[in-house]
Amino acid sequence: MTTITTIEDLRVLAKKRVPRMFYDYADAGSWTESTYRANEEDFGKIKFRQRVAVNLENRSLRTTMIGQEVAMPVALAPTGLTGMQHPDGEILAARAAEKFGVPFTLSTMSICSIEDVAANTSKPFWFQLYVMKDRPFIERLIERARAAKCSALVLTLDLQVLGQRHKDIRNGMTAPPKMTLANIVNLMTKPAWCMGMLGTKRRGFGNIIGHASAVSDMSSLSSWTSQQFDPAMSWDDVAWVKQRWGGKLIIKGIMDVLDAKLAAASGADALIVSNHGGRQLDGAQSSIGALPAIVDAVGGQIEVHMDGGIRSGQDVIRALALGAKGVYIGRPFLYGLGAGGEKGVTKCLEIIRNELDLTMAFCGLRDVNRVDKNILLPGTF
Ligand code: FNR
Repeated sequence: MTTITTIEDLRVLAKKRVPRMFYDYADAGSWTESTYRANEEDFGKIKFRQRVAVNLENRSLRTTMIGQEVAMPVALAPTGLTGMQHPDGEILAARAAEKFGVPFTLSTMSICSIEDVAANTSKPFWFQLYVMKDRPFIERLIERARAAKCSALVLTLDLQVLGQRHKDIRNGMTAPPKMTLANIVNLMTKPAWCMGMLGTKRRGFGNIIGHASAVSDMSSLSSWTSQQFDPAMSWDDVAWVKQRWGGKLIIKGIMDVLDAKLAAASGADALIVSNHGGRQLDGAQSSIGALPAIVDAVGGQIEVHMDGGIRSGQDVIRALALGAKGVYIGRPFLYGLGAGGEKGVTKCLEIIRNELDLTMAFCGLRDVNRVDKNILLPGTF
């Protein structure tokens, strides 16, 4: 890990270590992947104003997200199948986040269950929920998250229908995965990953198998999942979830000012400007492109967070400057996990923290809470 200095280094190492079907699952966007690319590219267009000869001693990245203290305003995004990037992946990522002092968000579609993660960590984590047709299952998930002392619910609204990812189709990336000859040959080139998987009991979808009425094994999971995302979901369902949960609520997947206003009106504590990392509507604008108008419209009423395309601490500070109270990273921590388990996730967070801290200093600031548009070059955002 000592020669790793960028998120890109982690990505290259993860690609070597993780079986292709799971690496591609993380690294893909939908259809032409134009939104996936735009998420990253649009960050690069935003330029900083360098300042000099200001006191840069005693810098601080500490702040809050939804009122909870964070060591820096960067949370780990919910990502399905995290436990396939590395055995026990959700537990390892949650531990790294906990030690670092940033929130970890467990996906509904995780390999390790809510209970597995709770039993192996000591601080509350956040739980991400999809609205599925099986409402009793949703109620049980909410109860399980409450019992595990999760300190926020992240309700994802942008997956009523599923964006197509060509790589997943080509790789047979279904539940259960198709064991094609190409996949088996590829697995044989990743012995450390295979040994790790043999050594863990956590290989199924821990939040679903055995908990949803019709799902007892991996093969029943596939038909159940494909029917479960609810094309009829509405803001009434958001109100229903909010009322059942009763705790901190974050609404994820907002890209439009009209939806942002509805999210603010729903009484949620925060919304996440997100296009699901370019995995849903290809051709949508980048998240960082959508952020300023949403902050203008609802920033005074609700905390605005964002994710999508953050690959450095510089991107984090660009999003903060444009009004985000906090951001989430998805693929960067998955690359860290695939590259080196818990140490890899810690490395990812360290890289981002160092870049964030130094960029803030170059812009002449000492406190992350003071970051605003003044650090950006007019005409570049
Ligand atoms: C995701 N994302 C996601 N979001 C969610 O709400 N529930 C989920 O289960 C998943 N699963 C998932 C799997 C994988 C492999 C990826 C890459 C992403 C979206 C995720 O929370 C986040 O919005 C994006 O990952 C942010 O973009 P970056 O940081 O990956 O560019």
